[in-house]
Amino acid sequence: MYMCGIIGYIGLKKASPILLKGLKNLEYRGYDSAGMAVLSSNGIEFRKGAGKIEEIERRLNFEELEGSIGIAHNRWATHGDVNDINAHPHFDCSKTIAIVHNGIIENYKELKESLSDHNFESETDSEVIAHLIEEELERGLSFEKAFMSAVSKLDGNYAILAIKADEEKILTARRGSPLVVGIADHGIFLSSDIPSFLEWTKKVVYLQDYDVVVVDRNGIRIHNLIEGEVSRPIDTVEWDAEQVKKGGFEHYMLKEIIEQTETIQRAIQQDEDVVKRIAEEIRRAYGTFFVGCGSSYHACLAGSYLFSKLAKTHVNVVLASEFENYEHFLTENTLVFAVSQSGETADVLEAVRTAKRKGSRVIGIVNRMGSSLTRESDQFLLMNAGPEICVLSTKTYTSQVALMTLLAYALLERHEECVEKFKELYMDIYNLTSRSMRDYLKRLAEMLADKEHIYLIGRGLQYATALEGALKIKEVSYIHAEAFAGGELKHGPLALIEKGTPVIVFVSKENEERILSNASEVKARGGFIIGISAERHEIFDYWIKVPECGDLNPIVQIIPIQILAYQLAVLRGLDPDKPRNLAKSVTVI
Ligand code: M6R
Repeated sequence: MYMCGIIGYIGLKKASPILLKGLKNLEYRGYDSAGMAVLSSNGIEFRKGAGKIEEIERRLNFEELEGSIGIAHNRWATHGDVNDINAHPHFDCSKTIAIVHNGIIENYKELKESLSDHNFESETDSEVIAHLIEEELERGLSFEKAFMSAVSKLDGNYAILAIKADEEKILTARRGSPLVVGIADHGIFLSSDIPSFLEWTKKVVYLQDYDVVVVDRNGIRIHNLIEGEVSRPIDTVEWDAEQVKKGGFEHYMLKEIIEQTETIQRAIQQDEDVVKRIAEEIRRAYGTFFVGCGSSYHACLAGSYLFSKLAKTHVNVVLASEFENYEHFLTENTLVFAVSQSGETADVLEAVRTAKRKGSRVIGIVNRMGSSLTRESDQFLLMNAGPEICVLSTKTYTSQVALMTLLAYALLERHEECVEKFKELYMDIYNLTSRSMRDYLKRLAEMLADKEHIYLIGRGLQYATALEGALKIKEVSYIHAEAFAGGELKHGPLALIEKGTPVIVFVSKENEERILSNASEVKARGGFIIGISAERHEIFDYWIKVPECGDLNPIVQIIPIQILAYQLAVLRGLDPDKPRNLAKSVTVI
């Protein structure tokens, strides 16, 4: 089990309704099963099952669980089928210990073999944790000592919460998987992510790798398995509870698309001196890398075109999962930009560690303050996009591209000019996300909803946009969507074009002639041309009007495709916030 959401509460209030709300706010992390365990006068009581939380909450009546100490879990399965038994919590043989876990226990098979006299119920790696604690308790250790000893035997990634009958406390440990403490007036939260408790408190303590924490009614004690007793600062988060609500929108995806009017402006509100210093580092570096995954990788690619065309500066763009292949180019003079919305993507963190081992300097571009990337990079720039709940990156993608643009302009010592350009974009983004635009794109979505394939083409900066557009369409509507550089069509993809095949063409002033010539190659084979451009061209069967914004085209041109992808998902009866098989932060290699 890799990407899951966990939450625990100990306090003055009844735990189950609080945990249930927390699970709903954590659903973006995993949504194929859920469960909860609460300490009651009868020991541990629990409910768990497969299904989305809104389906199973009626069946399982979580709120019937009494007690003010509890732990809960949303599952995203990759290890063991999606079924009631594999859902968390998991237990020891006598069901006096309950645990929930996010991560993967790599040595669970060996550990399980060493516990052959224990009765395992599930196929998960996680269950081994409960039995390990039981084993240590049988050796006469206290719950805390047994927990610590069990944790020190685990290889892999984990964020674990554990409770034991008759012990008024929650024990927790983290390594590699996110875990944050929330301190409210009425109690303490332990969770994979802040939105799960934001309604109750903005005071947080970010836990670090190897922290083992005891939370009881007196507060929290942190013991780091390497450093010993430690204290961690209490921070205040700036997000508020409203930001993590749908605020009248049917889906987070739409809300987050519309928020781009504001988030793009926020992204570029960076300290000018900091940006200038980073530009200076890029100038001095002997090799600069941009690394990221998925949408963040596409932002890196857009950034590389901007750096090349605008600032005449070469950068290497590498998928974080492929970065190790470039290891031998890394030196103390190399600069690595690690781009990640969540700051928890395992491939990105692995790339960061590779770079740091080689002595290279790492700058994070990240949305989540307190995430692993903010801790592990030497310096970071925050996107300031606010919480993005939908699994798809929308507003964080444009924030990443905005930051890349700002850096490219900083290299030219034209920071102010860039900020002005972005200010002028405000009304354009407002119009692109307006109701009339959404309705216009809905009509296009109605024409495309039954298609099996959609292709997207662009050149230069617009090629990065085409790749991102294809990712948006495929991951949310499940229609096969693929992007090509316009010039590549004749080298193979043209064979895919039949009468009526939809092809989205991103046109910019700079490469208008060449991309329109690519579009005519498609049109000649019967393709249905959807043009995204400032001017209507005869060749278009459907025209999406966007302003011509030069270097800022990647921002304005992706927005209609985000909306189109959203409309396609809704028309096909899919939940745009939770595409199948995907999770928001991919904390596995
Ligand atoms: O949190 P990150 O930016 O590191 O996530 C990387 C990818 O998993 C992510 O961009 C993913 O491709 C998007 N959610 C797709 O919309």
